[in-house]
Amino acid sequence: MFRPSRRELLQSGLAASAASLVPRSAFARVDALLAAFDEQKPVEVPGPREHLLMDFDWKFTFGNACDPAKDLGFFAFQSDYISSKTGSFGFATAKFDDSKWRKLQLPHDWAIELPFVDDQELMAHGFKPMGRKYPATSVGWYRKSFSTPQSDWGKRIWVEFDGAMQETLVFLNGCYIGRNDQGYAPFRYDVTDFINYGGENYLVARVDATKGDGWFYEGAGIYRHVWLTKFDPVHLGRWESFVRADVKGRDAALTLSTVVRNHGKKAESALVRWKVLDADGKQVATAASEAQSIDAGDERSFTATAAIRDAQLWSPESPKMYSAVVTVEVGGTVRDGEEVPFGVRSIRFDVNKGFFLNGEPVKIKGTCNHQDHAGVGAAVPDAVQRFRAAVLKAMDSNAVRTSHNMPTPAWVEACDRMGLMMMCETRSMSSNREGLTELEVMIKRFRNSPSIILWSMGNEEVIIEGQPLGERIVRTMVERSHELDPTRLCTAAINQDAGKGASLALDVEGINYSLGIIEGYHRDHPTQPLVGSETASTVSTRGIYITDKLRNWVSAYDLNHPSWAELAQEWWQMYGTRDYLSGGFAWTGFDYRGEPTPYGWPSISSQFGIVDTCGFPKDAFYYYKSVWGKEPMLHLFPHWNWGERIGEEVSVWVYSNLDEVELFHNGKSQGRQKMPALGHLEWKVKYEPGSIEAHGFKGGKQALTAKRETTGPVASLKMTADRTTIDADGQDCAVIRVEGVDSQGRTVPVADDLVEFKVTGAGAFLGVGNGDPNCQESDLSPKRSLFNGLAQLIVRSSDQAGTIQVEASVREGKVAAANLSITTRAAGAGVKRV
Ligand code: GAL
Repeated sequence: MFRPSRRELLQSGLAASAASLVPRSAFARVDALLAAFDEQKPVEVPGPREHLLMDFDWKFTFGNACDPAKDLGFFAFQSDYISSKTGSFGFATAKFDDSKWRKLQLPHDWAIELPFVDDQELMAHGFKPMGRKYPATSVGWYRKSFSTPQSDWGKRIWVEFDGAMQETLVFLNGCYIGRNDQGYAPFRYDVTDFINYGGENYLVARVDATKGDGWFYEGAGIYRHVWLTKFDPVHLGRWESFVRADVKGRDAALTLSTVVRNHGKKAESALVRWKVLDADGKQVATAASEAQSIDAGDERSFTATAAIRDAQLWSPESPKMYSAVVTVEVGGTVRDGEEVPFGVRSIRFDVNKGFFLNGEPVKIKGTCNHQDHAGVGAAVPDAVQRFRAAVLKAMDSNAVRTSHNMPTPAWVEACDRMGLMMMCETRSMSSNREGLTELEVMIKRFRNSPSIILWSMGNEEVIIEGQPLGERIVRTMVERSHELDPTRLCTAAINQDAGKGASLALDVEGINYSLGIIEGYHRDHPTQPLVGSETASTVSTRGIYITDKLRNWVSAYDLNHPSWAELAQEWWQMYGTRDYLSGGFAWTGFDYRGEPTPYGWPSISSQFGIVDTCGFPKDAFYYYKSVWGKEPMLHLFPHWNWGERIGEEVSVWVYSNLDEVELFHNGKSQGRQKMPALGHLEWKVKYEPGSIEAHGFKGGKQALTAKRETTGPVASLKMTADRTTIDADGQDCAVIRVEGVDSQGRTVPVADDLVEFKVTGAGAFLGVGNGDPNCQESDLSPKRSLFNGLAQLIVRSSDQAGTIQVEASVREGKVAAANLSITTRAAGAGVKRV
């Protein structure tokens, strides 16, 4: 099948924009970025290890957080001798009947299934009925059976969860296995002793989301992948392999390390080999350690060095990855192996010159993001993670912050491979056992990722951050981070006590908001670099230009922010103009559920986003593009469908990186203005239906035009998929944009028609959204109102190669209808599953 290379696509995209005066749409850029995405070439890893995806064929039912009778009898006061013994959990055995439980596939977030409830206590988490008052919807039970061949006897077998929200108890074959309380950390259990070799196994997880963790929507349930991993008794320690790549001139000096564990019955003499491959799979370096004897039940560290000549450096513009294939051999036989993707790049923070990537000063043009998306909640499929990365890149952003928790591996991988730098944050600022374990897991899990440029010790810990207690805790965390990863510096997001307590222990001071203190901080702290860990918090509703407090709408002109925050233009005029500032992270890239600022009920999501919960750009997106990107751009707003407002004055804004812009209303010039640096232009225009048109000039020549026309009503629908061919692996997704268009094919910017969907063929409906922060329609029913002309549908492939047919209609096709086909291609070897 023809798949154009990244270069070909970029060239065709550039050619298209050079030939036309019309700027390329943000949507087209997202689609082009995804099409050009260099998918990871499968790397062959020798050795007997099996890493099997366990996302399929789960059964699910709600339990109850208070009543054991409705919670599989669980937590009932132990009533007899047998029920107090290991092996007594009948729900995790063959004799349990789960036929009434619902079948589902992971990742799964049951919170999006719940209705919205008008209860102030639920506001932060998006008005979903969970917590002590709602025991019937706060606990979920997951159950899955799988078989294990007799030949697995002698292997070490682990069950690995990438993450579950929140307190999770795991059972296997009648036995309790373990407990995890941290909703964002991966957790794993050695279940070797509990497996039924040559038979069926019953795995059960009881997930209790009563408590929640943060002050924002977090989802509920097993919202990340689950794996079954089978190792030889002699194997590599999980997340112990570290490839440190130091740039030396044009080469990269590699320091390679790992840990080998011997779970066997006798001492073994093991050695480790590394084979380094470039992005095309070509071998570019090899290394081997000395052999060491490892006693039964013991472990040893192994190290080696190697070099890559003429290394291809990783950067947001060219996110070139390498792979190290790490193998452990005993007597010439490979007993275990794994692939460690990594990148080669140098990073440095300079107190006066800001951030340097590969020796060049680079401003961090970042956004903070939570981890939910329209239609799927916190259970974001890997393909949608890549879509989200492409949306941010289309804005010419080069960085993200994983506020306020350890990210899902799929998000880190998307950022590595698509080219977004990352400030990677741990959930709790604490040096207690849980806090340090979480920090260690985060660093070990992700330290090979070139995207990560800073570790963050936490966010706005207002009680301790200014205290000696905060300093002691953060110092311990920073020291441990440096031990685990000497290549990166540590920061934290400080909001009210910059310079005191925790700040004293940070390598890089992170300041949230507070533009007024920054100059003084830099002057008074001449050795500590600065990053804007959280900035902006501008609020706006996509496509709305008149603030309406009764409808919970806030205008999309860059005019509104809560008291503690600042406008997009204000923070960038500061951070974009001072060399000593490394840049920062705007709150937020995507709107997110919960924390419904600036209004409460019936708003169910925040309005901080530069794009809405679907990833549809608000106008602020184009402000950032104008100051962050190099591609010539011109954005004109608002829309021109003002109906009855004839003769009223409408404020017309332009964001652009051209020199001058002239505005026309119905062909009549409204004047030509010079673009102010890092700002916007404004005209006051008396509304008449028709059009407004901006002509942008560069070096005196007209370079781009942008036009907004008064449209007719919705006459048909238009559907566009981010990718029209996806893998038939039961996991891949297409993200489909649905537009209500008039008889001339123009998007109707005020359309709110209810669109109904039918998905048939080689895939299924997954979820819908429209980015309206006040819309309480279900994300899981195949219909959705357009919000200001747009809605989004996500479909997921099945295992069968073929075609997914999507039909969309307004009022049974009487007003408008559209069809779209997505091809699903045989997925090749792909990820193995159980
Ligand atoms: C910050 C906080 C964020 C979010 C934001 C809203 O103080 O770190 O999590 O609440 O305010 O402006």
